[in-house]
Amino acid sequence: SDYETLLVETHGAVTLVRLNRPQALNALNTAILRDLIDAFAAYDADDGQRCLVLTGSEKAFAAGADIKEMQDQGFAQMYGANFFGGFEKVWSVRKPWIAAVGGFALGGGCELAMMADIMIAADTARFGQPEIKLGVAPGMGGSQRLTRAVGKSKAMDMVLTGRMMDAVEAEKANLCSKVVPAADLVDEALKMAATIAGMAPLAAIANKEMVNVAFETGLATGILFERRLFNGLCATEDKKEGMGAFVEKRPGVWTGR
Ligand code: HXC
Repeated sequence: SDYETLLVETHGAVTLVRLNRPQALNALNTAILRDLIDAFAAYDADDGQRCLVLTGSEKAFAAGADIKEMQDQGFAQMYGANFFGGFEKVWSVRKPWIAAVGGFALGGGCELAMMADIMIAADTARFGQPEIKLGVAPGMGGSQRLTRAVGKSKAMDMVLTGRMMDAVEAEKANLCSKVVPAADLVDEALKMAATIAGMAPLAAIANKEMVNVAFETGLATGILFERRLFNGLCATEDKKEGMGAFVEKRPGVWTGR
């Protein structure tokens, strides 16, 4: 692949992206952000790719934003450059993606994993928002996404003490959808991704949009959004195909139209 900080492979209709800055435990710097924006945009634009898995190394998904890069930056530089605001482009990718987390997912690393549609953890995963120990606070959505995922008390516990949470606690707290042995992490994520990649592409985008709207609006509006999008999907060829295939007792063959 042509990225300085990522290794990208395709497995059929699934894109596998590995963070690859081993010398810094995959700390997120400007180069990784640039590469992630490019890789996610390429995935979103490629009709042949239907799901993406983002992973790190055995030791670290990502140990946070790069402290050495942030060390000398003051308010004017951070605000002027909208520091790490570019992660919105990763988060707002339309097609589904999975974070497969092994080892450390701290600070921005935990926040990046929480941007995923689904998070799978290895039994070695360690999550935390330790920014308070650096005299700061989460800056890539952690205070909002962690709170939505695990609730107020545990989110406060995590951000105020800066402690780490292991995989068992993370699963219990609904931070991740499941925990698997570390040796199986990428295979399990690729398997789940292949299942998703086998679905009708427009339906996959619609299902993702609906669940995300649950975080953005009130119940009645969310339900109306869902119903209208459901109505809309009924105008697709893949709806005719999917329901026809069920009645004819055969697998659906999707066109993405
Ligand atoms: C820069 C980092 C780094 C980071 C690790 N490294 N984390 N470099 N930024 N976030 C580097 C170390 O400096 C070291 O480089 C190498 O990676 C290996 O790390 P060690 O500390 O030697 O490994 P270990 O003893 O196993 O400890 C692992 C660790 C620890 C517990 C994960 O590295 C750690 O606490 N890292 C920082 C975690 C953190 O505070 N994250 C939050 C960052 S703030 P050398 O050159 O010495 O070998 C943040 C804000 C997000 O994320 C919002 C932004 C807008």
